Amino acid sequence: MMRPAAIVKTKEGSSPVFVGEGLLEALPRLMDIRCGGSRCVLVTDARLEPGLGRRVRRILGRGGRRADLFVLPVGERAKSPAALQKLYGFLLRSRVERGTPLVALGGGTVGDAAGFAAATFYRGIPLVQVPTTLLAQVDSAIGGKTAVNHPLAKNAVGAFHQPVFAAADPSVLRTLSERDFHSGLGEVVKYGLALDAGFARLLRRDWALLTARDAAALARAVGRCARIKARIVSADERDLSGTRELLNFGHTVGHSLEIATRYRLRHGEAVALGMGAAVLLSQMRGIFDPQDVDAASWLLDQVCPPWPRGAGLRELEGPIGLDKKVRGSKNVFILLRGLGRPVRVSDVSVSELRLAIDGCRLISR
Ligand code: GLY
Repeated sequence: MMRPAAIVKTKEGSSPVFVGEGLLEALPRLMDIRCGGSRCVLVTDARLEPGLGRRVRRILGRGGRRADLFVLPVGERAKSPAALQKLYGFLLRSRVERGTPLVALGGGTVGDAAGFAAATFYRGIPLVQVPTTLLAQVDSAIGGKTAVNHPLAKNAVGAFHQPVFAAADPSVLRTLSERDFHSGLGEVVKYGLALDAGFARLLRRDWALLTARDAAALARAVGRCARIKARIVSADERDLSGTRELLNFGHTVGHSLEIATRYRLRHGEAVALGMGAAVLLSQMRGIFDPQDVDAASWLLDQVCPPWPRGAGLRELEGPIGLDKKVRGSKNVFILLRGLGRPVRVSDVSVSELRLAIDGCRLISR
């Protein structure tokens, strides 16, 4: 019996995360153990359908499981109300039953949209997450957050719905574009910087192997991120106690950069720059351990793109004010006392933020 790399434990049960090369071939077996039945709905997007989509459908078929295929549009359009309506229609026409699993094969947008459909169709059908990007393997496919967009705001409509399991096969990451892979590394670095100093040191040691997409190094890193995320989600599944919020290290400024640049920056790139701003804020406040400065700067240098032109305090201030993490009128920032030592603060002033943003603009040009 295959052992999960991590297990998310919630009041409703356990959601294991399997990580390993060649895991796609093991999908039928995992589904037999965790889902039962002999059919499923495979949801992917138009970019993946001709290659990985068909391959996974064949694998499932060989394993004795009929897979009805639904193809979402590429990118954020997968999370539109129109795409969701089509998916619900497909599930109805395919006569999906309460126990029929929906398999989400793709990156964050497929996982979010298919996950939301699974959370809501018939008030919830089983979900299997098969993430195919680095970002989805280490973050979005784990922990049960699902969402679609409203015309007024991204991810405005969502639900918590833990997958019956997630299966991350790092071999699929070899065909990711350099930019998408690198963006995913931003989220990987987040786990080291904010939540696990030992992992931050391991990342530095393994960096050349990781960027060369070495199989063992990738599996080690994806497995470690999954364990960290599972620990955090198990402690605060619904994002209520402030623990899960720690996963948003770098996201306050990062998210506002995505909005200010109209999503020209990839999520992981924006988060990397946001982490740089958070570390600088921590240093300006004198709370960041000087012994960790070199390691943190080295990791940030690997993942930060140049700061986008025209994204100064004036452009970021509005989006930061609208950030989901706002409690009352205060912005919440995750700062660091050192590697793996996050602290949640809600009293960052506009002048501090201006200094941090201007500092980052100078450093990451
Ligand atoms: N990506 C942040 C979370 O899952 O809470």
